[in-house]
Amino acid sequence: MEQHTALLQRLSDAKHLPVDQYLLSARETLLRLASVPDLLSGVRLTRVCGGFTRNLIFGDDQMSVWAIVWAPGARTPIHDHHCSCCFAVLQGVIREVWFDAVDDSRAIETARHHRATGYIAAMMPSGPNIHQMLNEGPDEAVSIHIYGYDHRLQTSSIDREYQRIEH
Ligand SMILES: [Fe+2]
Repeated sequence: MEQHTALLQRLSDAKHLPVDQYLLSARETLLRLASVPDLLSGVRLTRVCGGFTRNLIFGDDQMSVWAIVWAPGARTPIHDHHCSCCFAVLQGVIREVWFDAVDDSRAIETARHHRATGYIAAMMPSGPNIHQMLNEGPDEAVSIHIYGYDHRLQTSSIDREYQRIEH
């Protein structure tokens, strides 16, 4: 992974660019990283049964980059972000469910997608983008996430969590 740190550092430097240009750079960076065989071979990945783990692989004052390992059954809360959120699926399939907020604490499902290996997303928090990510399959999944926050100052990229309500 060390050899790719320069790539991430260049992306961090692009944080001062207009949003669209930064997101394009993030997408290109993820595309390059995702095409590297055994990208995470030098990274000690933690795992937890039935859940997901975040493994920091790069961090500075502009962004933090995490490898997330999704065990079968893992799921995030329904959440939005206080910062940009870009990710690539490196292994397996992740279900991504989208929601609309009904109020400050409740959300209703609007769409669900399978994000297969190679899928790349790059978005700002102001969509608004409320989603949940899950591993519903029988196999482990791995993704790499680039968030626009300093991990030394904030504990996660999540701004607010929501409870699901039905139509
Ligand atoms: Fe998210």
